[in-house]
Amino acid sequence: MKKTLLFLAGAALLCATACKSELDKKIDGLVEQMTLEEKARLLVGTGNEGRWVSETSYGDMKNIVPGAAGTTCPIERLELPFIILSDGPAGVNIDSTRENEPGTYYCTHFPIGTLLSSTWNTQLVEHVGQSIGDEAIHYGVDVVLGPGMNIHRHPLNGRNFEYYSEDPLLTGKTAAAVIRGIQKNGVAACPKHFAANNQETNRMGNDVQVSQRALREIYLKGFELAVKEGHPKTLMTSYNKINGVSVSERRDLVTDFLRDECGFDGTVMTDWYGGDHPEDQIHAGNDLLMPGQQWQMDSIVNAVNAGRLDEKDVDASVKRLLKLIYESPRNQAGHTYDNTPDLKAHAEVTRQSATEGMVLLKNDGQALPIASGMKEIALFGCASYDFIAGGSGSGDVRRAYTVSMLEGLQNAGYSVDPLLAARYEDFVKQSIAANLEKVTARFADMVRIRPDEMPLTEQEIAAQVQRAEYAIITLGRTQGEYYDRKSSEFYLSDVERSLLVNVCRAFHAAGKKVAVVLNIGGVIETASWKELPDAILCAWQPGQEGGNSVADILSGKANPSGKLPMTWPVALSDDGATVNFPVDQTTENVSVASRRKDVGEKNVDFTRYDEGIYVGYRWYDTRAIEVSYPFGYGLSYTTFQYSDAKVARSGKNINISVNISNSGSVAGKEVVEVYVTAPGASMDKPAKELKAFAKTALLNPGKSEVVKMTLSVDDLSSYDEDSQQWIVEAGTYKIHIANSSRDIRLTETVEVK
Ligand code: BGC
Repeated sequence: MKKTLLFLAGAALLCATACKSELDKKIDGLVEQMTLEEKARLLVGTGNEGRWVSETSYGDMKNIVPGAAGTTCPIERLELPFIILSDGPAGVNIDSTRENEPGTYYCTHFPIGTLLSSTWNTQLVEHVGQSIGDEAIHYGVDVVLGPGMNIHRHPLNGRNFEYYSEDPLLTGKTAAAVIRGIQKNGVAACPKHFAANNQETNRMGNDVQVSQRALREIYLKGFELAVKEGHPKTLMTSYNKINGVSVSERRDLVTDFLRDECGFDGTVMTDWYGGDHPEDQIHAGNDLLMPGQQWQMDSIVNAVNAGRLDEKDVDASVKRLLKLIYESPRNQAGHTYDNTPDLKAHAEVTRQSATEGMVLLKNDGQALPIASGMKEIALFGCASYDFIAGGSGSGDVRRAYTVSMLEGLQNAGYSVDPLLAARYEDFVKQSIAANLEKVTARFADMVRIRPDEMPLTEQEIAAQVQRAEYAIITLGRTQGEYYDRKSSEFYLSDVERSLLVNVCRAFHAAGKKVAVVLNIGGVIETASWKELPDAILCAWQPGQEGGNSVADILSGKANPSGKLPMTWPVALSDDGATVNFPVDQTTENVSVASRRKDVGEKNVDFTRYDEGIYVGYRWYDTRAIEVSYPFGYGLSYTTFQYSDAKVARSGKNINISVNISNSGSVAGKEVVEVYVTAPGASMDKPAKELKAFAKTALLNPGKSEVVKMTLSVDDLSSYDEDSQQWIVEAGTYKIHIANSSRDIRLTETVEVK
């Protein structure tokens, strides 16, 4: 026995040397030649002039791709090349114009992450990822800093728009698809921000105090799936601390969990200026510190010289980074880039994918689609004229245009009162200018300034009732990096509310319908006003073709098939995380690189995740709290029948199938959701948890599809903190096949011993 083991160990060692690729051998050779200073220089990257300038910026590195977020440092002595990294999740975020150059360098603004996850269509999302990666390759970018994939722990997190869901399964599957898509082009994806980066308030210093179980089941799970199913070549750690230590400095997370448990074999980088102790970061396995500062290099060198950091850790990071660099597009023989991506083709991709992630929340009396023949529309709301394509900060995209609702409706053959349009456009301009003055220059490029809503007199509304056959009100919200949303942004303003009340009253009195379009990046309050209009469409922030995408749905050219990736609460106070979230708490935390002094302020310096695993529907459904719209909810212009559910064990697998038929009168797609209720006899378990989902193909009326999904028994497990293991409780599990978390169509059971 001992001999066999020795033999196997010897063989493994031999293979480790003999089976090394040519590249690995080349990298080994280079590392041997590198001085410690050169290694340290490689491990801290550099910013890019105009965007992230740091004192390590290399003269000739500047502005190769203006607006990109950074590069790695070349080492000329050894002819070590570099790579270029650029944001972000909704498209490549580089400058659209360049000094002394007549050309433009626009990128496509695709829908925000939240809209993508609302499609529940991983194939479609992969295609969007592929289009983003294609633009990266055309613009000479090697690493796309996306997807963003933190959990929507609370509705007010300012960056929820970049992220996918309150549920880790939907998050992980969507992220994996985006990663696969981006990487089909040879560029690397960079899922971020690992992990538990769930608020912007004091984002550089906030300490997340979370249980091991919640960490594992909610906050790490999505990353685990993204790594195992998406195989990203890079990954970005988050700014925040977890239980006292910055994530980028935690070896248990970056090496033990990510690399050893999940099998991640790529390069880990910090978020820009993340972490305070370079030696701990390198020891943790966080290979690249971005955007790189001189003191970080010095600190790595000093730590090795003083024996606090093992040079082997440095070498391991250098090797991983060199592999990424040598495998990157710009370092392949004959690589060139032409700066001419097919923007026309991608406009079509964003237009179509956006329609599939819009969620029809209400449609009384088939108010939508707008009856054919109706052409005169009364178009209300500033956002109709100043439509919001996406969020601000690194997740923004410098696009060539944004199609507004006005333009989208006109392109679809509708007409809108030019006088009302002119009045709105004028108001928008003036209101934006006035609001801009209130914002200090320092933050001006960080937030998108929104106009206030324009008050309308009853006479003005009456004139529209006279003229138009149908009314549309668009309500808009902006949000972005650096700030959490205020509670006032969750609720409607008084002007918005009176607009809704007055328009609905006047149009209904004349027997005419009203639809509300929500042009938002995060959940808003709907319970108090949703009775007023006939229809509500959540269009999210759907990218640069937004107005066309919305018009496709309103006109019936496309049938909505999106479903909510998060719960819409009645009130903010209902949410399990509200007591431990910085609701309307403000701090001086606004600059990118600076840290605030820790004064132990609750929800700012630290945030207690007391709700544990009870995030989103896990909270609302277990406590039977009334919600405005549940997780997984969304209507269609058609109806679907669920029948013939089959659940069968086959070894470790649980095979589920269900027949879905289109029982309505127009073609449509249906999202099928599988929730599991555990026996809960020996473990604390939520009322139900999403364990699988699938989307049908476009089904014509009368057509059906047998949807098949497979779970593993391991998917039923929960993390047991005492034994530090995943445990599957024995007993009877209920398998619910559902249309939303609150609309279960069929339930079967399965026994687990
Ligand atoms: C953001 C990252 C982004 C990086 C580079 C940071 O402020 O948190 O998401 O990738 O900047 O732009």
